[in-house]
Amino acid sequence: MLHSAVLNVMIKAAQRAGRSLKRDLGEIEHLQVSLKGPRNFVTAADRRAEEIVYQELAKARPAYGFLGEEGGTREGTDKSHRWIVDPLDGTTNFLHGIPHFAVSIGLERDGVIVAGLVYNPANDEMFVAERGKGAFCNDKRIRVANRQRLADAVVACGLPHYGRGDLALARNEIAAAQQAFAGLRRYGAAALDLAWIAAGRLDAYWERDLSPWDMAAGAILVREAGGYVTDLDGGDAMFAKSQIAAGNETMHRELLRLLKTAAKETAAA
Ligand code: IPD
Ligand code: CA
Ligand code: CA
Repeated sequence: MLHSAVLNVMIKAAQRAGRSLKRDLGEIEHLQVSLKGPRNFVTAADRRAEEIVYQELAKARPAYGFLGEEGGTREGTDKSHRWIVDPLDGTTNFLHGIPHFAVSIGLERDGVIVAGLVYNPANDEMFVAERGKGAFCNDKRIRVANRQRLADAVVACGLPHYGRGDLALARNEIAAAQQAFAGLRRYGAAALDLAWIAAGRLDAYWERDLSPWDMAAGAILVREAGGYVTDLDGGDAMFAKSQIAAGNETMHRELLRLLKTAAKETAAA
């Protein structure tokens, strides 16, 4: 399949970083049994992957700005374009040798995400999308699922870390979702949750306390697959509010309604 020049650059960067992560995953399997554990090693793997992504992207587009989870902001001379990168989304999975993690690369132009890539090196699934051109997994067109009944839906969510976020609210939201949907999942890689919505595997997804690098690439994947992505109030302020909800039109609408009710109940308790 023919990709645009910019998508080819993103794919090459993700594949190189992915090779590095996959090598490191092999090493982690040994480190599980050591007393020190793999934590420091994972931090290094994460930084290494980000540096690879940065070097590849900067080589091809030296003027673009760069926002990475590990290295923060690197200003570019081209103020319209910015890469938004999570070199390893799903760190906890990676740390435990669970093959569900991703390299996530979004490209923003004048504040709008125009291209996105989410790559899971463990199973070699590469999700890509460009504005107006559709979404693809390993070069096959993908679309959001068409399921309409909540009772048939499989939905993913995040869980707040202990001591962070509003635990009572999260519990009420999860209880409401558990009752409404066929199944609730917590996979632990936000970028892949969004990619899986785009691929029609999951019907809806929501999460709070996310960062732009968790959402940028996944959001355009969902939109280009015909789905809806918003903040939890139905607006476009996902980055500003650090939250996201996604699904097909029906699932997205019903999920927002359910979350609103849970929030009201939490406030009244
Ligand atoms: C995390 C994952 C996880 C989400 C967390 C994120 P990281 O990113 O996306 O699914 O629940 O809130 O921070 O730390 O693995 O890059
Ligand atoms: Ca992340
Ligand atoms: Ca990360």
